[in-house]
Amino acid sequence: MLGPVILAASRSDKMRRFVSAAPGTKQVVARFIAGESVDQVVPIIVDAADKGLEVTLDVVGEDITTVEQSHAARDAYLELIDRLKDLGLGTKAEMSVKLSMFGQALEGGHELALANVRPVVEAAAAIGTTVTLDAEDHTTLDSMFAIHDELRKDFPQTGCVIQAYLFRTEADARRLAANGSRVRIVKGAYKEPAEVAYQDKAEIDKAYVRVLRILMEGEGYPMIGSHDPRLISIAQELARRAGRKLDEYEFQMLYGIRSDEHLRLAAEGHRMRVYTAYGTDWYGYFMRRLAEKPANLLFFARSILTK
Ligand code: FDA
Repeated sequence: MLGPVILAASRSDKMRRFVSAAPGTKQVVARFIAGESVDQVVPIIVDAADKGLEVTLDVVGEDITTVEQSHAARDAYLELIDRLKDLGLGTKAEMSVKLSMFGQALEGGHELALANVRPVVEAAAAIGTTVTLDAEDHTTLDSMFAIHDELRKDFPQTGCVIQAYLFRTEADARRLAANGSRVRIVKGAYKEPAEVAYQDKAEIDKAYVRVLRILMEGEGYPMIGSHDPRLISIAQELARRAGRKLDEYEFQMLYGIRSDEHLRLAAEGHRMRVYTAYGTDWYGYFMRRLAEKPANLLFFARSILTK
């Protein structure tokens, strides 16, 4: 019950101000956000690489309101890619981007987001890595998939995300699996109405397995984005049945969540990529992490009250 309330709060400016100013917030945010700047995140990328993990980097931010902010988002990724190049980490780190941060919701936003994301994808390709387009709320997805198709004409490795909770996703998975795309499958983290999405956890899990099967049996590269132990073992079994080798799919988990499991899967020989978010505009990302596990909210509340 708490999850939808927290997700509604994630869109409220009043709550944003309250949460951002609350004592104790920083300490809880630090569990999920790797740092505020490139300098702070670099040691974390290096440490992950030392442990045999790969990363996908998200410069946090979304729901921007000006074209200038969309350019700043593009530039933040270009700065990050420059640093990865200097560190020689191009093949260990890819980028995850939210098109809303690139201006997708502004007037003429589809074209603006495409124009902003293209140089990022080009720069990533130049250092031997790639970009994955995160999935945001359902109203943004037709534009996201169209941008993904457009980018793949020149950069076929560009990935995208699909969300098991949406009714549309099996059809999207079939299309993407047939055309050989890199696809991250996740359960879905936004507040979606019953007209477009399953609301029941068990229904979402069943849909996840149906989509996983489509991806594993298809021509593309499946990226299993989940911390759910049951889904992880089902993914391993489906990969085995589909005759996929260990380098023909990968697991992905979020920084700060089930870190032992990151290491366990990597030690088993799996490619394990840690989604590592950093930056100062962490509010939306942080609230979705609270909504996923109400126990996080209790921890957060306690840390505010004890400050
Ligand atoms: P589930 O929520 O059932 O969690 C399984 C277990 O994992 C829990 O019991 C708990 O132990 C642990 N856990 C999960 N979330 C936790 C949390 N926040 N805090 C503490 N423990 C937690 N969504 C989206 O809509 N668009 C996107 O682009 C992405 N991208 C993305 C990338 C990657 C790499 C991951 C792993 C996830 C996403 N997501 C996402 C988020 C996704 O949709 C989903 O909300 C979360 O992954 C939680 O679902 P699980 O599959 O982990 O299962």
